Amino acid sequence: MSFTQYKPVKTRVQRSTLAVPGSNPAMFAKALESDADFIFLDLEDAVAPNDKVPARENIIKALNEIPWRARGKTMCVRINGLDTHWMYRDVVDVVEQAGENLDTILIPKVGVPGDVYMVEAMVAQIREGRNIQNEIGLEALIETALGMSNVEIIAQSSRKLEALHFGVADFAASRRSRTVVIGGLNPDYPGDQWHAAIDRMVTACRAYGLRAIDGPFGDFSSPEDYIKGAKRAAVLGCEGKWAIHPSQIALANDVFSPPPAEVDRARRILIALEEAAAQGKGAASLDGRMIDAASARMAQNVVTVADAIAAKATQNAKAA
Ligand code: GLV
Ligand code: MG
Repeated sequence: MSFTQYKPVKTRVQRSTLAVPGSNPAMFAKALESDADFIFLDLEDAVAPNDKVPARENIIKALNEIPWRARGKTMCVRINGLDTHWMYRDVVDVVEQAGENLDTILIPKVGVPGDVYMVEAMVAQIREGRNIQNEIGLEALIETALGMSNVEIIAQSSRKLEALHFGVADFAASRRSRTVVIGGLNPDYPGDQWHAAIDRMVTACRAYGLRAIDGPFGDFSSPEDYIKGAKRAAVLGCEGKWAIHPSQIALANDVFSPPPAEVDRARRILIALEEAAAQGKGAASLDGRMIDAASARMAQNVVTVADAIAAKATQNAKAA
């Protein structure tokens, strides 16, 4: 291991991230009742230009009046991009007026580290100016060719940055990729056309202690294809995926929860290696397979996720 190590910036359970347009407050109650781990109230692409200002007001009211956190929700607002004139008021109004009830800000279409830096500086000033005690983390959407080209330096852009999300729809637009459905696979490509991008983003995330989250899958009438996409992302190391429809929440929660047999085996690996260590051995055998310190690190990852999910379930049960 290098002497330089980046610990996870912030551990949160983020198997499902439900996208809810800020312009549609009728959906807020349903979002509260859902099993989503994370909810992002959107000011960006799901909101039409004429609705931006009322959506901001709806979101501020919802953050302040709905008991999201008591119901186990992590609350995020997706602001408008830095190339729009809405962005500064999104940050100023939401943080000034609802900063105590906001967990993270999701910054879309991040292209360079300075995009994150600007939001960090604004949030820091508003928190200090308004004496807001609540910490507000940052998340960045990697969804442009520029953002993906700079993903490694964006991952190091701010100590407030907790997660990167792969925004496949805008990424496809930015790259002029040929798509059939948002996040789906084009049969003209022999394999997964998103593999290289997600893989690169996950590596950048893990290098610098960030969560890696896979973005939307547009065809909500096909749970099978959603599950396939989510599994591909999970295999690469993503810890969650967006739900753009309530029916996708349970699918994401399921795919990104380690199965009980995997958790059981991970715990047995840790015990077997502890026993081996007590006898002065670095490696051991379990179920006919060799295991060593690397197996322990993989097993510990599984156990950490399983414990965090179990703790969240307990907390939610108490709140219900
Ligand atoms: C999400 O914002 C996307 O563009 O996929
Ligand atoms: Mg987008």
